Amino acid sequence: MWGFSNAALPGPLPSYFILSITAAMATDASAKVIDGKSVAKQIREEIAAEVSRMKDEIGVVPGLAVILVGDRKDSATYVRNKKKACESVGINSFEVHLPEDSSEQEVLNAISGFNDDPSVHGILVQLPLPSHMKEQNILNAVTIEKDVDGFHPLNIGRLAMRGREPLFVPCTPKGCIELLHRYGVEIKGKRAVVIGRSNIVGMPAALLLQREDATVSIVHSRTKNPEEITRQADIIISAVGQPNMVRGSWIKPGAVIIDVGINPVEDATSPRGYRLVGDICYEEACKIASAITPVPGGVGPMTIAMLLSNTLSAAKRAYNLQ
Ligand code: GUN
Repeated sequence: MWGFSNAALPGPLPSYFILSITAAMATDASAKVIDGKSVAKQIREEIAAEVSRMKDEIGVVPGLAVILVGDRKDSATYVRNKKKACESVGINSFEVHLPEDSSEQEVLNAISGFNDDPSVHGILVQLPLPSHMKEQNILNAVTIEKDVDGFHPLNIGRLAMRGREPLFVPCTPKGCIELLHRYGVEIKGKRAVVIGRSNIVGMPAALLLQREDATVSIVHSRTKNPEEITRQADIIISAVGQPNMVRGSWIKPGAVIIDVGINPVEDATSPRGYRLVGDICYEEACKIASAITPVPGGVGPMTIAMLLSNTLSAAKRAYNLQ
């Protein structure tokens, strides 16, 4: 697709060629890799130091409770990783694992127990829940002071409103913004496109970018001309779960790309038979963007680092330390 030369083209260029040529000129450029793995490691070290100081000074260890319902393998892996990360920074973790056919009331009882437990400062209910449960009833039951996922409607509502402060911001979008900050990417006044409008990532990511004074568009499954809208973005955050959906032609030269997608695709050369790719076609994007997160090793590790950060904040707030 790249590599048009002016000499080979007769007459004035149609507008769709102009973009290809602009991209072609960028072919040799290689985007800076936004290394979420190393930023997350640095954040975990900062958190570990604070956890240790808190223990020494007031004898309190932050605690995170995780509720897992059912036997989804991906959810079990996420929960295991979250618990491991807690251990690595000295945060206590508690887990309740309920069977798939549990009643909503049983989940509410588990939440209520953790709401009342002073050694638990953060509560996370792993999503998705089994289809017979109403997610809204469950998420509403987490006390907002322990809502480290930031999914309680009061926290999301405050995030959406000017002049209001949520107690917690959802971890994945918070991780995306943290990466932009730590890599010195200016957000104010920039055009940002968020691809995907989920409650967990897309919607709160758009709200966060807007709070940072970006001009934000949301592209979703019903958007007409998603490519054209995305091509206007200085900053792209993609969270749709479609492997390699965003091609080079969607990207404005010099854009900064945060790829939240973690999609398994078949790969006979890998020992596991599959490999993970993002929503963005990395091979094409890295020749056009100025900076991009890899998959894996981009946003993924940041989500967990932000969960630890939210849990530490919850514990500090409980003891008026901030
Ligand atoms: N499932 C996928 N992502 C998340 C997340 O960030 N938090 C929770 N609780 N469940 C999820």
